[in-house]
Amino acid sequence: MPFVVDFVKRMDELSPAARGIYGEIHPQVMQSISTHMTGKQLKRMNSVQLKEFLPYLPENGVVLEIENLWFWLRDILTVGTTSMLFGARDNPWKKHPSLVNAYWNYEAGDPSRRFNLTAVGNRRTNMHHATMHDALVEYFATCYDSSIASKDSDVAEMIRDAVALQRRSGFNVGDVAASQLAIIHGSIVSTVPTAFWTLAYTFSQPELLAKLRENALAAVTFKDIGDTGVRQAIVLNDQIDVLCPLLVATLHETQRLVSIGLLHRRVLEDTQVSEGIGEAKRTYLLKKGTAIFLASGPSHRSDQIWGEAPDEFRLDRLQDNAVVQAYENGQEKAKSAARSRNKAYFPFGGGKELCPGRNFAASEALSTLLVMVLGFDMSSPDGTPLKLPSFSPPKMTASVARPHKDADLRVNIKRRVGWENIIWGVSPD
Ligand code: HEM
Repeated sequence: MPFVVDFVKRMDELSPAARGIYGEIHPQVMQSISTHMTGKQLKRMNSVQLKEFLPYLPENGVVLEIENLWFWLRDILTVGTTSMLFGARDNPWKKHPSLVNAYWNYEAGDPSRRFNLTAVGNRRTNMHHATMHDALVEYFATCYDSSIASKDSDVAEMIRDAVALQRRSGFNVGDVAASQLAIIHGSIVSTVPTAFWTLAYTFSQPELLAKLRENALAAVTFKDIGDTGVRQAIVLNDQIDVLCPLLVATLHETQRLVSIGLLHRRVLEDTQVSEGIGEAKRTYLLKKGTAIFLASGPSHRSDQIWGEAPDEFRLDRLQDNAVVQAYENGQEKAKSAARSRNKAYFPFGGGKELCPGRNFAASEALSTLLVMVLGFDMSSPDGTPLKLPSFSPPKMTASVARPHKDADLRVNIKRRVGWENIIWGVSPD
């Protein structure tokens, strides 16, 4: 937690009064995020996001020629995710699309703000932060109250709670805007690349794609629109995780492979830790204030833990039946294998800092995947399956890899045969 608090407190836009109190109210804001990222509220948030995604998909007869899948998806999901937070009606990122670039340009340089590495800070990063801050100040000063008062408001409960708490604590509109920028960053920075890689792994493996197409049907119902020949496909957005185990397994295996960033901790008190026993025992003193970085990559890709070819995508890897069955039969060896896997798999971090947005992020990736596999063909421009792009490591504040900047990410998207006359709907609406 201290890192997030530092991250916000370091924002130039925060008033001295808010800077003083931010650390105190931060745990309540985190608690509120966790509380609202469950049940009906979570599904409503995901429906807002999915409804924002659907209009970008091609109509019947259109081949969408995309120059760069990463930029395309990134920009659309940035708008969808910010609409999920601030409501589709008044979302500044929807009203002013230039803010999407402002976010990603800011993201490209943000370590300076989190770690006080002034050497890597730059004026441009601060400028993009200020641009987004101005837009949010305008939103909170002019539309927010009417937006939450409207009877069909879709401003997320977690934002309403956080803003109410901050206002009660004496935050001015600039302070509220600054602290919401941290929520925006948390919501977008890993969610978007996770959704990207889930699509990339799926559409680069035709056998996997075929399996997912079959499984995805379980979470869609159809309604004829009169006798027009047009049908509505309604995505059961609140049931994908239950009805589509293969989509879930795809997401989990993707996360194992692409979550290769660092977890951050700071030592709060001088602490001794030991490893080994007897003469081999070694003890270390971790001094108060020391930063500790825990790399997820080696753990997520260890052959000792994941078995053969840990760099390869295997749909059943996390649900390795032999391990699961032996575990259920109480066999000790399997128990320890299953335990090691649990411990070694942490795409959302762990402990007190466990990501509070994990359920939203998973639902966003799953619903995007479901619509794409069911309704659309996505291929390289020459009609062959996508080639999985090589990785660039994530920034220091992020945990998920990015596609390499030189990767060929051109794709064509068109409606699948049999899905030409489909109108998409979302349930719950
Ligand atoms: C696939 C998408 C996501 C991934 C991979 C991800 C991953 C992580 C990781 C690894 C951490 C650090 C946990 C630790 O240190 O143990 C974290 C923290 C956090 N995440 Fe996420 N996250 C995602 C989506 C989201 C979303 C949608 C939100 C929206 C609210 C969010 C909000 C946060 C916040 C506020 C923290 C800081 C928690 C704290 O310090 O107490 N994340 N996330």
